[in-house]
Amino acid sequence: MNVLVAGAAGFIGSSVVKKLLECGYCVLAVDKVNTEYLSNENFAFFQRDIIKDDLEDIFKNYQIDYIIHLAGVSNVGLSITNPEYDAQVNIVGTINILNLAKKYKIKKLLTASSAAIYGNTNSFPIQETNIPNPISPYGLSKLTMEKYIKLLDIPYIIFRCSNVYGKKESGCDIITKFDNLMKNNKEIVISGDGTNVRDFIYVKDVAKAFVKALTAPVENEVINLSTGIGISIKDLINIMSKIYDYNQEITYTPVVKDYDIQTSILSNNKLLTLFPAFANTLTDLENGIRNIRYE
Ligand SMILES: NC(=O)c1ccc[n+]([C@@H]2O[C@H](COP(=O)([O-])OP(=O)(O)OC[C@H]3O[C@@H](n4cnc5c(N)ncnc54)[C@H](O)[C@@H]3O)[C@@H](O)[C@H]2O)c1
Repeated sequence: MNVLVAGAAGFIGSSVVKKLLECGYCVLAVDKVNTEYLSNENFAFFQRDIIKDDLEDIFKNYQIDYIIHLAGVSNVGLSITNPEYDAQVNIVGTINILNLAKKYKIKKLLTASSAAIYGNTNSFPIQETNIPNPISPYGLSKLTMEKYIKLLDIPYIIFRCSNVYGKKESGCDIITKFDNLMKNNKEIVISGDGTNVRDFIYVKDVAKAFVKALTAPVENEVINLSTGIGISIKDLINIMSKIYDYNQEITYTPVVKDYDIQTSILSNNKLLTLFPAFANTLTDLENGIRNIRYE
């Protein structure tokens, strides 16, 4: 089975590629940046930009069975400073991939949408049936991406991922940032008062879900990919401080970004109903942090 992974050099993409190779898939990896990869006979890398470059030769030369589309702007802050770019990548880039998916009749397209599409809400955990109300350009571009996918007649699974964390040198998730700071005994400065709540899911669990969902008899579904458990940034720091033996005072600044969602906890009932095997394999947050600490 040939799987095209767009965004293969990224945080989630590189973890998905590893999992696919472990499971015996052939991977056609696409990313605009070159990567450290990977001398593996089942792996080929194409340095392409999904906005500007034509990818059709890859579809002509290989029989692509599945697409996992993870190329995108994943940064809410960047979407505020440069909403045009965010829309280009997350919407136009996705449309380019969808056109090829349709033309070459791929079996299924999987992609990562985001908790950001829900915006602020009062009932937790958030179900997939909640009416989306994004408060950032990023949330809006991901929601628009979802709508384009549903418009085209391609089997799909859209995973709405909560906050993904895990080891990656360039990792920009908050747990990896704290890991770097705490390991080096550096000061931590938080914008806001630390009461924001997030639902952190380990990147290897995310990769497992994508690979499992490729051939599972599930399609045309939007599914939260999350733990369903919320933790405040303050509590996260307390847990990590114990694991890292970190004793510095935390500085909280009054600057609250108005695009920052206060509480984001996504129900994973649908995920566990469609993929019951996940129930016992989701990584507990403390274990995930220890993995990062000692990896
Ligand atoms: N990390 C999270 O917590 C999280 C949560 C929800 C959803 N997501 C979504 O998952 C996807 C992957 O996120 P990530 O955390 O791995 O981000 P990432 O930034 O690490 O990876 C994205 C990859 O896409 C590539 N890319 C960007 N623009 C491109 C273009 N024009 N052409 C080709 N490649 C391009 C980048 O080079 C990068 O390697 C994104 O769509 C993001 O919105 C991530």
